Amino acid sequence: MLLTDEAPARTRAIDPAFRRDIIEGLSRSPKATPPIWFYDRRGSELFEAITDLPEYYPTRTETALLKAHGADLAAAIGEGRAVVEFGAGSARKTPHLLRAIQPAAYVPIDISGDFLRASSADLAQAFPDLPVLPLVGDFNGPLELPKAVEGLPRLGFFPGSTIGNMEPDAAVDLLRAMRRLLGREAMLLIGMDRIKDRARLVSAYDDAAGVTAAFNLNLVERINRELEGDLPVDGFAHRAVWNDEKARIEMHLEAVRPLHFHVAGQCFRMAPGETIHTESSHKYGARDERLLLRAGGWEPVREWTDAEGLFTLVLAEAG
Ligand code: AVI
Repeated sequence: MLLTDEAPARTRAIDPAFRRDIIEGLSRSPKATPPIWFYDRRGSELFEAITDLPEYYPTRTETALLKAHGADLAAAIGEGRAVVEFGAGSARKTPHLLRAIQPAAYVPIDISGDFLRASSADLAQAFPDLPVLPLVGDFNGPLELPKAVEGLPRLGFFPGSTIGNMEPDAAVDLLRAMRRLLGREAMLLIGMDRIKDRARLVSAYDDAAGVTAAFNLNLVERINRELEGDLPVDGFAHRAVWNDEKARIEMHLEAVRPLHFHVAGQCFRMAPGETIHTESSHKYGARDERLLLRAGGWEPVREWTDAEGLFTLVLAEAG
């Protein structure tokens, strides 16, 4: 049952936040842009393709954990909660959770109205008796949950190790904001990617088929399409490097020759070897993840990890 009172989408103009973030990011030294701008339609399709790659273990490992531990999840979480998912529900993961825990309502939150509408409609069809209440908004900003879930205990669901794309201080801020939004009785089920050997990590972000390279380079094409850019796409190479000190995979776009280009009327230069840092994907050890959750106002109560120790689902209670 899809319940929405949203106005129809209107034609989109240039996004001033995109322009601001890209101009700021290219003006700084070293150059760095926020990863949220990967996800236009093409970027979202490429990300979907990444999740199927043999090298990209997180999606399949997390899905297998949700499937394998349905009964345990149900016992630990209980029935009748409002599930609030941060990000539009993934068709692959969310149904396993909803089927296992029999919630009273489902509230997916996403900044992309189109994507949210499509995934909510699919879920509403698969769960005809479940009230599905999509909420368009940025979960990094202030939000209000729909009136229909007032009084229900909540379960936050934040899969995919998306928390890893944030700097640790921003991750703590977000966990605290989730804690405030979800209320006193709340629980949080969160996916965290583990630290593992360097080769395995690097190949997950630099696959043999070049899909992750295309995902990274799509940012260059998006800047050209949407911000009157003239960046030479063949002037950049995709790089994925493990930064051991910061326990994170970094994706960069490296200039392969001297570059001179424009974005929204502003001129930029890059020397060969200079990079634009486009994404960090932080990985957490077992103790690190608990520390992060506690700093964010959540007390870990259970966790499920695959046999290889690649990925963990942590269940936490509002502290
Ligand atoms: C969305 N996020 C959790 C992905 C990750 O693994 O950091 C994004 C991604 N970037 C390259 N491959 C996947």
